[in-house]
Amino acid sequence: MNQENRTPVHVSIIMDGNGRWAKARGKERIYGHFEGVESVRACTEASVEEGVKYLSLYAFSEENWNRPEDEVVGLMSLMAKCMANELPTFMKNGVKFVVLGNLDRLDAELHAEINRCMELTSANDRLTLILFLSYSGKWDIHQAAKRMVADALASPEAAEKILNSGLSVFDEYLVTAGIPDPDLIIRTSGETRLSNYLLWQAAYSEFLFVDTLWPDFRKPEFRQALKAYASRDRRYGKVK
Ligand code: IPE
Ligand code: IPE
Ligand code: MG
Repeated sequence: MNQENRTPVHVSIIMDGNGRWAKARGKERIYGHFEGVESVRACTEASVEEGVKYLSLYAFSEENWNRPEDEVVGLMSLMAKCMANELPTFMKNGVKFVVLGNLDRLDAELHAEINRCMELTSANDRLTLILFLSYSGKWDIHQAAKRMVADALASPEAAEKILNSGLSVFDEYLVTAGIPDPDLIIRTSGETRLSNYLLWQAAYSEFLFVDTLWPDFRKPEFRQALKAYASRDRRYGKVK
């Protein structure tokens, strides 16, 4: 957190309500996802303008694989298309693009597009835009624990480090290694749950639940959220 202007370093958003937005207009759910892309653009731009360093977005959960096949296929092709479309804007605005999650479940074409975008934007440093795709918090903790056990079994030095380094070593095994924990987590659409999002990383995040549906969440709503965050008093268990 930047103490001077109280701008959060890392803002994270559970982008929810696309289906309801479309339904309210008598349209298929996928139209809500299309319109939601405009909100991603707006919040990315606003983050650059406001000096937020990390913007992370929950785009597709491990549980979302259980949705009807046409919606899953529609969402995946929308993501592949958007990544290709947005690349010039990422380069222009200094946006480093990162995708985190259980990417082995994605089809090869989308995986290749993700790798291409990540590679081409890897030197950008104005904003890191993280897309959580096929992600869940329990999956993340589980994969971290499994890799720790594998490393410990493979080398006594690794075992020694894992046993004696305290909590920070666990951070290194999560897919978010090297990324600061979110200062602010926003969820749109009036739902007040985490839906298996950053369970470990959200330990001391500030939460903001808003009724706005994701396709209606644009720059003014984002700025309003930063304002709400600025008035929070983060105590981390201490007495002030
Ligand atoms: C969020 O909108 C996008 C994803 C979870 C992929 P939803 O699709 O969950 O929209 P609602 O919650 O059904 O309105
Ligand atoms: C959470 O939204 C996941 C994402 C925004 C990607 P969902 O719409 O899937 O969550 P639930 O089912 O309402 O908890
Ligand atoms: Mg939803």
